[in-house]
Amino acid sequence: MVEINRTKVEAVIEREARNFSKTHPTSRRMFERARKSMIGGVPMNWMVEWPGAFPIFAKKAKGSRITDVDGHTYVDFCLGDTGAMFGHAPEATVRAATAQLRKGITTMLPTEDTIWVGEELARRFGLPYWQAAMTATDANRFALRMAREATSRRKVLVFNGCYHGTVDEALVRLVNGRVAPREGAMPHPIDPELTTKVIEFNDPAALDQALATGDVAAVLMEPALTNCGIILPEDGYLDAVREVTQRTGTVWIIDETHTWCEGPGGYTRAHGLKPDIITLGKPIAGGIPAAAFGLSKELYEKTIHNMLAETTGVNGLGGTLTGNALALAAMRATLEKVITPKAYNHMIPLAKKFHEDVQQTIREHGLPWHSVQLGTRVEYRFRATPPRNGEEAIAAKDPLLNKYVHLYDLNRGILLTPFHNMALISPYTTRKDVDLHSNVFRESVREILS
Ligand SMILES: Cc1ncc(COP(=O)(O)O)c(C=O)c1O
Repeated sequence: MVEINRTKVEAVIEREARNFSKTHPTSRRMFERARKSMIGGVPMNWMVEWPGAFPIFAKKAKGSRITDVDGHTYVDFCLGDTGAMFGHAPEATVRAATAQLRKGITTMLPTEDTIWVGEELARRFGLPYWQAAMTATDANRFALRMAREATSRRKVLVFNGCYHGTVDEALVRLVNGRVAPREGAMPHPIDPELTTKVIEFNDPAALDQALATGDVAAVLMEPALTNCGIILPEDGYLDAVREVTQRTGTVWIIDETHTWCEGPGGYTRAHGLKPDIITLGKPIAGGIPAAAFGLSKELYEKTIHNMLAETTGVNGLGGTLTGNALALAAMRATLEKVITPKAYNHMIPLAKKFHEDVQQTIREHGLPWHSVQLGTRVEYRFRATPPRNGEEAIAAKDPLLNKYVHLYDLNRGILLTPFHNMALISPYTTRKDVDLHSNVFRESVREILS
């Protein structure tokens, strides 16, 4: 088997970092100034995770391209880490949002778009009752409240390696069989062992055992994990999840925020799943902040009384700007004209091509790496076979190689999502864009072989 020469990796990273700094003087200047007033020089802390000594400052993002303040244009496979999965500034969303901006942004009143959006979400995802949220984090927090309300139980079960936003109960890891705060998480309000059970994905017996105690309100999960590389469910696993949640009276929440990449009705629709709650966020309004959660009829009937009681304004759901007119207009246009079957028909075959090209290079060099495709999403990892669960995925982390490929790509006009080796294909991505990545990936591998 071929060896990666880590000394070479480090040397090339140094060379690439120097090149990056030299070719991005305006971003560097802006960063240095921004640092004096914005924490870390960025408006949100995750943005410090880009490779190089500073992030590029964006001037324009349109379709599958981002242009920075130094005049470089990139093929964007990050797509706002899924927020712009259907392209930057999609025409239909921009038109509808612009029109709505002139007609009022937020009024604490429903607009007619509400009806269209509710009916469309019900049609696509198969759950009858929906409410808007601002972010996927919000949608997940609200979904957990609904599950606790419906079951009168407190605990939540999530999977090792998961990410569901800044939801305290889910910012956890399984460490030596115990629930622990996720590495790097700022302090939890209470010990997460009191709120959460964590098990490994693809282990039906562990789920059975964890739910047998009857104290878990909800299982919150992505149907395929996407936040520690892509981990696909094994045959029959999701059927087992449905069976045991139903048998133990546990609410099954599917977080489709990322797995919406599988088709217009998400992984749920594509695989005929029957969850009690679905949460959605990120691309639902083309990048304008919006999210949603949907309830089964049974959940709706169990929760509706308290949800709409006189005290509804303080029951822990919603927020002042939630469900605003701008978000609903953007959701409607995006669902109607952007997140369409036609878009997936373009995106999925290109994602397959991206995945096959990466695999081809891996095979050519006998590298102990692999690539996984999930609809319009592709991720490659530095282990020989796809992991079955979070533990295996976390053990395969290789920060040095991660930094290497991200920086190498960045200097050659390609943006990959910072926390992953993940590519998202948009409706605007072309075969040429994919070929560019395939060639650069091959070149990047050749440079670091022994
Ligand atoms: C599966 C999943 N759910 C929820 C979220 C939270 O999304 P947001 O940060 O937009 O609230 C994320 C973010 O990466 C996610 O990956």
